[in-house]
Amino acid sequence: MPLPLNHPLVDGRTANSPLIRAYRGDRPEQTPVWFMRQAGRSLPEYRELRVGTAMLDACLNPELSSEITLQPVRRHGVDAAIFFSDIVIPVKLAGVNVEIVPGRGPVLENPIRTVSDVAALRPLDPDALAPIIEGVQRTVAELGTTPLIGFAGAPFTLASYLVEGGPSKDQLRARTMMYSEPHAWATLLNWCADITGEFLKAQITAGASAAQLFDSWVGSLSEVNYLRRVAPHSKRALSHLRGFDVPKVHFGVGSGEVLHAMHGIGADVMGVDWRIPLDEADRRLGGGVPLQGNIDPALLGAPWHILEAHVRDVMDRGRVAPAHVVNLGHGVPPETNPDVLTRIVQLVHSIA
Ligand code: CP3
Repeated sequence: MPLPLNHPLVDGRTANSPLIRAYRGDRPEQTPVWFMRQAGRSLPEYRELRVGTAMLDACLNPELSSEITLQPVRRHGVDAAIFFSDIVIPVKLAGVNVEIVPGRGPVLENPIRTVSDVAALRPLDPDALAPIIEGVQRTVAELGTTPLIGFAGAPFTLASYLVEGGPSKDQLRARTMMYSEPHAWATLLNWCADITGEFLKAQITAGASAAQLFDSWVGSLSEVNYLRRVAPHSKRALSHLRGFDVPKVHFGVGSGEVLHAMHGIGADVMGVDWRIPLDEADRRLGGGVPLQGNIDPALLGAPWHILEAHVRDVMDRGRVAPAHVVNLGHGVPPETNPDVLTRIVQLVHSIA
């Protein structure tokens, strides 16, 4: 299925934007830059808008989700918006009782731990995605030539939250289930792949110009287990975008061991965390893959001259790849001074 004719990639609004050109392997005059978690608690205008509204309710209110998505674009002049939502939204829309507890993250009332828990999961009704589609449409109508990135959580990261019942240090329970109940594990990951794939597809058809799959907790897996028990499901999630000519970005935290395997599921661009330099990431990928990253979020709180030297080093190392989109190695910490982010955008755009 091709993209609709009024899609920003098709009608010319975003096809030649610096972000999309870089994602497709080109080097535009200015290096594009955006930040994971650019929409959120680092912005006073976000905190003000969120007063009295629970996180997932905000995500399901199209007026709010679109306004919050636009805030960092207006403030920082970044080269992309990322849709304000959360990886657990499709889980909630499929009827699972999940909430986001401030300061903790997604928490489930009833974790999914047994074969019968997995068997009881219901598919996602496509009509439930209406508030996401409307949120994206409103956002894209305001963005003009700035591309919107749609995103989703990868099956392993989603399943980790479902099995653990909340955030965990090393996904121990989820990995135990992966070994001891391989059949239930595969069923669970397929369910995650389909709901997350539909969530991503809804954002793309509604007007997002790129897709990013977040496998945030992939760093707890060995390469062998990633390839055997996780990668096929991540591939299945991306298969929901079959036929759409949109750049696909894949990102994980602590992904050094599995970077090459993560690229293999059908990603066009690899997001790199702060633990390996971009020239090393390029080497592990065998060259030829556009890279996104990887300013250490810890340096956002350091004196400017130290941060500036780091940003310049990231850009220098990024030159070995065919193309580079500057980003952080993970999300913006809530305590970040937003002026520092604006200053990074200006610096990146000033470097030829
Ligand atoms: O600007 C953006 O990046 C867009 C929005 C976005 C959010 N979550 C908003 C959010 C995106 C892309 C996500 C993805 C997400 N959510 C991931 C993958 C990316 C990553 O960070 O690794 C994960 C693992 C989650 C799950 C999740 N949701 C966590 C761990 C938390 C933090 C909990 C906390 O309070 O520390 C959330 C909540 C969340 N998602 C917030 C935002 C702005 C903060 C909630 C608030 O403002 O009350």
